[in-house]
Amino acid sequence: MRLRVTTDQPWDVAADVLVIPIVGEPVFDGPLGEIDRRADGELKSLLAFGELRAKRFTSSLAASGGVRAARLLTISAGPSGDVDRELVVRLASATMHRLAGRHVTSVAVWLEPLVASLDDGADIVAGLVARGIVEGSFDPKTIYSDDVPTAPPAIDELVLVAPATADVTAMTTGAERGVIMGEGANLARSLSNRSANDVSPEVLAEEAYTLARKHGLWIDVIGPEKATELGMGMFMAVGKGSDNPPRMIVMRSGKKGELDAAGRHLAIVGKGVCFDSGGISIKPSDRMEEMKMDKTGACTVIAAIATVARLAPGTPLLAVAPAVENMPGPHSSRPGDIVRALNGKWVDIINTDAEGRLILGDAMTYAERLGATHLVDVATLTGAVSRALGDLVTGAFGSDPAWTGQVLDAGARAGERYWQLPLVDEYTIDMESWYGDVVNTGGAEGGLVKSGLFLREFVTKPWVHLDIAGTAYYRKAKPWAARGASGASHATLVELALAGAAGAAGAAGAAPA
Ligand code: BES
Ligand code: MN
Ligand code: ZN
Repeated sequence: MRLRVTTDQPWDVAADVLVIPIVGEPVFDGPLGEIDRRADGELKSLLAFGELRAKRFTSSLAASGGVRAARLLTISAGPSGDVDRELVVRLASATMHRLAGRHVTSVAVWLEPLVASLDDGADIVAGLVARGIVEGSFDPKTIYSDDVPTAPPAIDELVLVAPATADVTAMTTGAERGVIMGEGANLARSLSNRSANDVSPEVLAEEAYTLARKHGLWIDVIGPEKATELGMGMFMAVGKGSDNPPRMIVMRSGKKGELDAAGRHLAIVGKGVCFDSGGISIKPSDRMEEMKMDKTGACTVIAAIATVARLAPGTPLLAVAPAVENMPGPHSSRPGDIVRALNGKWVDIINTDAEGRLILGDAMTYAERLGATHLVDVATLTGAVSRALGDLVTGAFGSDPAWTGQVLDAGARAGERYWQLPLVDEYTIDMESWYGDVVNTGGAEGGLVKSGLFLREFVTKPWVHLDIAGTAYYRKAKPWAARGASGASHATLVELALAGAAGAAGAAGAAPA
């Protein structure tokens, strides 16, 4: 896809479709009035007809009259005070979904209404829109089929129509960055959506190898023998239950233990359960098929380190993705099994369906051994977080307020929503084992908090846990996304890592308030 930033007037830009963001109620004085006048009053007439509305994510497709683009597409942002980075990305994505199945090869987006509603620079808006256009062209149906008539169009050219005073160079850089961010999210989504008979732990490791070669990353993949020898008892307790052997995937940019420009050796750790049947504590069949996406955290960290390698090569960053299949069988762990974690703690597995925390615990210990000074894990860890926060807000836990603040700031720069949950120390009493150090579940009350408390047993450095079980995938299509993997947290991890790039190259400005 070619990218072009222009300061031409929106009505002078050649494209198949000119996208017109409507913020608040449409007001036809100023440039929108001029577009309407040149379009022979079509927009005003659609407004009167009730087709053009201010309600968020509604859209209308109009003939363009004397406007140079072939067609006009309005996309409504809703109330003007409520425009934030997340919405800008989603509005851009929604336009691509609106154009699904249409013959479109070039799209122009008029940025001015968005630039005027967001307190960030035009280069930030350009990046968010470019990212949204790329994310909006993702369709999981294209993973296994070549010809998908209902897919969003694959466009050859994106034209960003900038305000006359804009710095075209800065906007182009911002937009290029946005395209790469969007491609990274789509990579994570594509891996995550793929089925469990396709993507086993070995296949996920092969995909990681391919990416490492492509982007010049160091990679090490630990199989069952080495994992056992190292003492990864929790990782193996889950991994040994399947015919598909487990893989601890370790990727790095920069040198071992090297500190980044922010003085950190950041590790991003992602849960890679290629299928979660629950194991011996087997899940009910209802919606069990969704558990092929229980590897989303791993897909997200693998994609994120590849994105960072593209945007700011050499930035010190470690990604650890424990990949397993959680299956019942003669080799599976049983409820009541007691295993020794890599950090030496004895863990009482009372529920084999609480497997994510087991593999993550060993992965985080390993990341610290490789020199991590700051950690973030991302995992589809609990059904409870999706009951509490739904599919639009990711749950966050943190052991260190300053570090948690930095991760949440990166989330704000990325335009992703988080809600912090407490690590209630008193609840650790429910996690005591009568003969080990800790049990892997501590009863239903406060189960979400206890999942965080369990993970905390396996880190000694500043750490944040992001529970994406609600946000990792959509059960129903959204205006901005198809069903399936959403790409949640990819942009946050990239922003967080880029804060440590030399000269903080590529960082997306300050966090919005
Ligand atoms: N992968 C699941 C969590 C999950 C549930 C993700 C629904 C996405 C949608 C996780 O491994 C799990 O089974 N968690 C249990 C924990 C319980 C056994 C303490 C849960 O949430 O029920
Ligand atoms: Mn489970
Ligand atoms: Zn799971």
